[in-house]
Amino acid sequence: MSKLAILGGSPIGSVMSPKWPIWSQLEIDMVTDVVKSGEWGTNGPRQVEFEEKFSEYCSCKYGVMMTNGTHTLKLAMEALGIGPGDEVIVPGSTWQATASSVLDVNAVPILVDITPDTYTIDPASIKAAITSKTRAIIPVHIYGRVCDMDAVMHIAKKHDLWVIEDAAHQHGSEWRGKKVGTIGNIGSFSLQLSKILNTGEGGVCLTNEKLLYDRMYSLKFCGRETYPGSPQMQSGNFRCNEFAAAIGIAQLTRLTEQNKLRHENALYLEDKLSKVDGIGILRRDERVTFQAYYQLPLQYKQEQWNGIHRNKFIKAVRAELNGSFSFSTPYTPLNNSELYSPFSKKTHKLSEEYCKAIDPSRFSMPVVERAYKDEYIGIFQHHLLAGKYELDKLVDAVVKVRENIDELATVE
Ligand SMILES: Cc1ncc(COP(=O)(O)O)c(C=O)c1O
Repeated sequence: MSKLAILGGSPIGSVMSPKWPIWSQLEIDMVTDVVKSGEWGTNGPRQVEFEEKFSEYCSCKYGVMMTNGTHTLKLAMEALGIGPGDEVIVPGSTWQATASSVLDVNAVPILVDITPDTYTIDPASIKAAITSKTRAIIPVHIYGRVCDMDAVMHIAKKHDLWVIEDAAHQHGSEWRGKKVGTIGNIGSFSLQLSKILNTGEGGVCLTNEKLLYDRMYSLKFCGRETYPGSPQMQSGNFRCNEFAAAIGIAQLTRLTEQNKLRHENALYLEDKLSKVDGIGILRRDERVTFQAYYQLPLQYKQEQWNGIHRNKFIKAVRAELNGSFSFSTPYTPLNNSELYSPFSKKTHKLSEEYCKAIDPSRFSMPVVERAYKDEYIGIFQHHLLAGKYELDKLVDAVVKVRENIDELATVE
């Protein structure tokens, strides 16, 4: 009789994780107030309040709330004057928006590799990619690890480059006591539903530089002045609406507590899972003074599983948990991603030279590809809000699958 649930054995049981998003009467009251006020859009008071509260939370001078975390990246680049003829260095493992927003300002995204022990942008690969055309670096604080910001800022300073931090995943992480998104020139955050701070859809940029703030405000607001005489840049409408801003203010009241719980549970799981042969924990840099989690990243070591592939392991663990637990595999490498295909749009076919430069298939990123195909396993953030009793079921499932590795090998 088989022991593993995937082969008909009895499962460990379901994990009860909180449903995401988490809300209460506070969200209902705040949205109701917006309805009653009639101020539903056009830079209303809730948007300004959210900008002030989020920038204060991050100890940053200025915040600009926008439609989403894709437009924040695009407008950040426009505010920095990045455009045709410029190259921007982007990790090859990220959501496609990080790179597609570079294309949308007609600059060239240069895809680089990640480090094998953190899966964040590799400083050595950044250095190797720098040319006379490089204007900016976009480090992405991805899943549950922060980029080596000392190295990124050092390279940027040496080569006179802008830094836009893509912090879509990590509202609240800290690098040497500073919130991520406030270390480079501009920090970009997504507020989309799955994110740890969410407004349904939305995004926000942070900066400490007044000129960049003024430009981003103008860019989000159809090119208008922020105040008489402020810099104006031709643009469109990238304003968020007041309902989203109200939700954001309410959600922000929960962020510190939720981040703390996710952090505590991530450490708990890392401790337990690190004792299972073949499960690796990504390196936690000592300079990360607080880690926020969009996902808890794990590294599956196939060579320690008698060559059994990660996906079979995931299937078996999910079966132990009655399918109640969802794991994430990483973003598709951008050098071979259906969602990042520059030539599907006439806008990007500027010239033969440009097409050659933006062709994603010209970039080779062995670590990105390995993490994608074989190694990365992510635990979604809402599972990290579960109680220890529930998390123990996950640990038990992983241990059980490991103890029955011979059976696992027979799974089709
Ligand atoms: C790393 C990263 N950057 C940017 C974005 C874009 O954010 P949005 O979905 O709000 O446009 C996302 C969204 O998933 C993301 O994960």
